[in-house]
Amino acid sequence: MTPLDPIETAPRAEIEALQLDRLRATLAHAYGHVPHYRAAFDAAGVHPDDLTTLADLARFPFTVKDDLRRAYPFEMFAVPRERIARIHASSGTTGKPTVVGYTAQDIETWGNLVARCLRAAGVRAGDIVHNAYGYGLFTGGLGAHYGIEKLGATVIPMSGGQSARQVQLIEDFRPRAIMVTPSYMLNLLEEYHRQGLDPRACPIEIGIFGAEPWTPAMRAQIEAAFDMDAVDIYGLSEVMGPGVAQECVDTKDGLHIWEDHFLPEIIDPATGEVLPDGSEGELVFTTLTKEGMPVIRYRTRDLTTLMPGTARTHRRMAKITGRSDDMIILRGVNVFPTQIEERVLAVPGLAPYFQIELLREGAMDAMRVHVECAPGGDAEACAAALTRGIKDMVGISCAVVVLDPGGVERSQGKARRVVDNRNA
Ligand code: DLL
Repeated sequence: MTPLDPIETAPRAEIEALQLDRLRATLAHAYGHVPHYRAAFDAAGVHPDDLTTLADLARFPFTVKDDLRRAYPFEMFAVPRERIARIHASSGTTGKPTVVGYTAQDIETWGNLVARCLRAAGVRAGDIVHNAYGYGLFTGGLGAHYGIEKLGATVIPMSGGQSARQVQLIEDFRPRAIMVTPSYMLNLLEEYHRQGLDPRACPIEIGIFGAEPWTPAMRAQIEAAFDMDAVDIYGLSEVMGPGVAQECVDTKDGLHIWEDHFLPEIIDPATGEVLPDGSEGELVFTTLTKEGMPVIRYRTRDLTTLMPGTARTHRRMAKITGRSDDMIILRGVNVFPTQIEERVLAVPGLAPYFQIELLREGAMDAMRVHVECAPGGDAEACAAALTRGIKDMVGISCAVVVLDPGGVERSQGKARRVVDNRNA
């Protein structure tokens, strides 16, 4: 079996000493080479030399997505453009895309970290891994790809889409693991049924799911449907891509953040105050080894909690509750799509597909949840059960629409959980 990197189980003192060294170097690198950081640090009256402990990082300014947009396309790079070996970018559905750049060394580090994730998920050198994250500017496909190769496994570079072909290749090539979004895994489940195949007989033993929020209820659903282990992988393009944090298959108790490369903080999203471990808040990252595009205190908008290490000495983050951008506020009550997912999956007669529609009723915002019955499900009873479930959980009434099978939009990668028709 491939041994762990020694740092994965190193004592906290050793991890923190390494973090301090690397943080100092990163702050100096960013300040010295990126005009944005020089201006932002100067405006806040701080200098890289002011950092003598890890806690001093709280004195440095945050970085937000708009800072990256303003630097479009290459102004956040901390090395000459010629040293950038690869570029990725976000889809840019709202405004300009955010661009990220990697040196050859960054690509190397990324591959090693994804390999570390795969190992924690139980994948071994020599295994076949079906990679259905999208290839291209999205970091999922290529990020996973290089990690699979680095581990010494065999990669099937399938990318997204073409569910029928995906199932055929899974049956023919017999991968031991799959990397894909959890919502797309449900499309594959549907395709198994469509082809009259038994998903529990499928060769996959391990699924490494991420790129979108998913609940423990979804884990249970996928594990039972495919008779496999399902673990969580987290990352974001601004910080690297997939492989920032990973859940271990033997514990399934949250995701270890690879703290030798990323320094996490949890802040109060309203005030920016740093919160102690154990509190829920917004996750903030500082990269510790990135050359091409270091980020300092990047606000992810993802809500979670930091917890002590277990299977590794690196701290864990709880499953993401949601993004602050995806939070729905209905009559003063905060609702996350993950809460709706939990309730949908708790109704036995419903299929695991749903979409939330926001609309305006008079002066009030309202929510309508679109779902489908599972074969043999009773639409009326299911709608009543879901309405009750949502009311019990969040205290608000909403309309439930039960559509014919196939009626809910299917995920093509990251599921679109909320459709906002309030201004339609
Ligand atoms: O989604 C990178 C990735 C690819 C991660 C494949 C895991 C697997 P972005 O497109 O930049 O990068 O989107 C990042 O997706 O801020 C979260 O809101 C969300 N996200 C990513 N992983 C998870 C996860 C990739 N495991 C954004 N759970 C992040 C919940 C996740 N949300």
